[in-house]
Amino acid sequence: MTTLGTPLSPGATRVMLLGSGELGKEVLIALQRLGVETIAVDRYDHAPGQQVAHHSRTIAMNDAEQLRRLIEQEKPHLVVPEIEAIATAVLQDLEAKGAVRVVPTARAARLTMDREGIRRLAAETLGLPTSPYRFCDSLDELKTAIESHGVGYPCIVKPVMSSSGKGQSRIDSAADIERAWQYAMEGGRVQSGRIIVEGFVDFDYEITLLTVRWRDVQGQVQTSFCAPIGHLQKNGDYVESWQPHPMSPAALRKAQEIAHAITDNLGQGLDGQPDGLGIYGVELFVKGDQVWFSEVSPRPHDTGMVTMITQWQSEFELHARAILGLPVNTELRNTGASAVIYGGVDAKGIQFDGVEKALAVPQTELRLFGKPESFTKRRMGVALAYADNVTEAREKAVLAASLVKPRT
Ligand SMILES: Nc1ncnc2c1ncn2[C@@H]1O[C@H](COP(=O)(O)OP(=O)(O)OP(=O)(O)O)[C@@H](O)[C@H]1O
Ligand SMILES: [Mg+2]
Repeated sequence: MTTLGTPLSPGATRVMLLGSGELGKEVLIALQRLGVETIAVDRYDHAPGQQVAHHSRTIAMNDAEQLRRLIEQEKPHLVVPEIEAIATAVLQDLEAKGAVRVVPTARAARLTMDREGIRRLAAETLGLPTSPYRFCDSLDELKTAIESHGVGYPCIVKPVMSSSGKGQSRIDSAADIERAWQYAMEGGRVQSGRIIVEGFVDFDYEITLLTVRWRDVQGQVQTSFCAPIGHLQKNGDYVESWQPHPMSPAALRKAQEIAHAITDNLGQGLDGQPDGLGIYGVELFVKGDQVWFSEVSPRPHDTGMVTMITQWQSEFELHARAILGLPVNTELRNTGASAVIYGGVDAKGIQFDGVEKALAVPQTELRLFGKPESFTKRRMGVALAYADNVTEAREKAVLAASLVKPRT
């Protein structure tokens, strides 16, 4: 049974977001609508989610001591990681003690914070199809992995601790190896020096399969899938997404089987621990009827922002409902697309011209995240559009995004 309280009263249901960017902000709004008391945490002040939460806290979330102190002070019922760079050992410890429930589980947060944990689980423990891969700690090991251990050319090098394409590059021949190694060394989140090299999958298209673990009124955990989301990546960062992406019945069935297997496993906590409720973004590569697992976010996915205009319940509402133990509906409402708006300038407190022109494009919506500082390649907003088909929806979203002009 789920009982919800009144915010700012002793019986409040309190939820803490670790990371309060654009995705966290939408989760916080969805929680607010259910009368949940919210605590938005980020590493800098005035993060997007902090602007809509009851409480804001600014700490280094990858600092174990600071994180432990904050959780012990605030005593939230639920801790919801929104980013990967978190001191996850603290979450595991507090979850094991029964001090807090981590969404979906502390184990999922730990396994997905570096590429090694999740790749070994998917490929070696669960036997899911992935690209061929090796982990390497030196340039020599990288050469050997590619040329003698079956990775081959072309391949992609990624720091094990990195996201949004940072430190990632493609190797087409032996001449590229050293440059790729150096680039990875500079792009990692922590200077571990460890990388993954993956054989290049020559896919027809890639999708995000949003998968929700939720509890029905009988208390059973259910798994539901959203319609597949297609997306376009540039330099490891998503620039456009759309839903639904057409798939053959066989490919869709395989994609759902893979997503079911990985989320079922990540959803298991320690004995008798939580059910791993919430949304997961399962990233898959598809060629014909063949499907490969790439990676998974145990939280809303950036490409899933399109669901704010395509589904009855966006991925953020689905997450909020699922983590509170409430039923969900993953039904698609209409076809639609999203297009990212980049900062284009390096400056604080920027202005946005052309918003009226963007919103004059029929059947569009806009989100401006309110980030206090812009960088040329920082995601500052997103344009959303719906239409009868994906082509039209993408055109409208891209047009609307291009009409918004950030400036100093
Ligand atoms: N083995 C591969 N074969 C082909 N393309 C790949 C491979 N690995 C990654 N890519 C391409 O690069 C993109 C980013 O890779 P990946 O998702 O591993 O990086 P990331 O840094 O975690 O990105 P994000 O945080 O945006 O999800 C993928 O969506 C895909 O387009
Ligand atoms: Mg990815």
